[in-house]
Amino acid sequence: MASTKLKARQSAYRTEMDEAERASRDEIMALQSKRLAWSLKHAYDNVTHYRRAFDQAGVHPADFKQHSDLARFPFTVKTDLRDNYPFNMFAVDREKLVRVHASSGTTGKPIVVGYTKADIDVWSDVMARSIRAAGGRSGMIIHNAYGYGLFTGGLGVHYGAERLGCTVVPVSGGMTERQVQLINDFRPDIITVTPSYMLAILDEFKRQGLEPRKSSLKFGIFGAEPWTNAMRAEIEQAFDMDATDIYGLSEVIGPGVAQECVESKDGLHVWEDHFYPEVIDPETGRVLPDGEKGELVFTSLTKEAFPIIRYRTRDLTRLLPGTARPGMRRIEKVTGRSDDMIILRGVNVFPTQIEEALLATDWCGGHFIIELTREGRMDEMAILAEARPESWDGSGLSPQAEKVSAFIKNTIGISARVMIVAPDTLERSLGKAKRVYDKRPKG
Ligand code: DLL
Repeated sequence: MASTKLKARQSAYRTEMDEAERASRDEIMALQSKRLAWSLKHAYDNVTHYRRAFDQAGVHPADFKQHSDLARFPFTVKTDLRDNYPFNMFAVDREKLVRVHASSGTTGKPIVVGYTKADIDVWSDVMARSIRAAGGRSGMIIHNAYGYGLFTGGLGVHYGAERLGCTVVPVSGGMTERQVQLINDFRPDIITVTPSYMLAILDEFKRQGLEPRKSSLKFGIFGAEPWTNAMRAEIEQAFDMDATDIYGLSEVIGPGVAQECVESKDGLHVWEDHFYPEVIDPETGRVLPDGEKGELVFTSLTKEAFPIIRYRTRDLTRLLPGTARPGMRRIEKVTGRSDDMIILRGVNVFPTQIEEALLATDWCGGHFIIELTREGRMDEMAILAEARPESWDGSGLSPQAEKVSAFIKNTIGISARVMIVAPDTLERSLGKAKRVYDKRPKG
């Protein structure tokens, strides 16, 4: 992967990189050893949940001598966090928290996470590093359309952008017409937003008769939901920009856990000086060797307020060796969570597979939803996909629908009814897109 071009671009900004980005794999691992030992002890000494969980598993922070010992420590799962709502997972006095965030979750109580001043500093650093890896530089204008509020996207990007020395436009999500007006008037270099909302912004450009390729945007940092390389191509082509992937989750810190480098666009480098990744077999919990696909698990290495030990993210991916940052491993693009997986008559399907199939056509720009119903004892999948305005003739385009349905049958192995709908009929997301509507009877 290290082409001559990549090497040249890398050396051009080597001087701007953080020390950890320039470190060798051995140096990163040595740092991790020290930090893992600290984090395990910090969690055990200060959080009742971890003390109990470690004691029950018969393991003590002092048993940690090397990376492989981490596998002896118990996993943390979402319900552990929910059971300790709101503040019982914190390892510092409440007065030491400078901020809390919460993830809404689909059912029940939210998960509350908290930060000390030092935690916000680390988060700002990894976010500044992420924006820089995506192409951002000090002095640039950044249009931040991730939601501000309890969601970590808006404020996470905001602090990182300020740290890097950018001018932040804190628009948050929604009011799409105004988003386009501000992009035109302020001429930002960078946009940060969910990929699905970027498509809504694209539509609005067209609605206003503006040419998106002539916009000032050069770099897009897209994440918070799964998206495909086909979607990347769609966005890059539409705006004539470089689009990279950013990954993160509230429980680990927020956005900025891993980021794709613009010079390689080959998966996301995990900022391993602060977050230690493992990939496990979701059935057995066994740690898998690098390169094998499974569930991503994270341990925080430096967080004070909310240390997290072996947290099961439910996100599916594999670990790969570092490229643009050789000391830190990459994760392959996260194309689905175990929770999003649809099992249709025994075949596992992720919405991103449908996205890929639809974007391979010339009539679909990426707006789609999946409806699941049950006819008798059979589960049925219907895909409602919007036509591009220039492809729509009001006829329903049934030959095109049949063609993509056959393609899905041949590539994914499922029978799905594809319905092509008029442009601008499906609801637009302002943040994370809701792709699947499960109308099957419960139970
Ligand atoms: O979504 C943090 C974030 C904000 C990341 C802005 C990137 C940009 P949560 O709301 O806690 O945090 O949701 C975390 O979203 O476990 C994944 O399932 C999914 N996710 C986040 N980034 C990506 C991505 C933020 N790049 C959950 N690709 C995670 C695929 C992603 N899924």
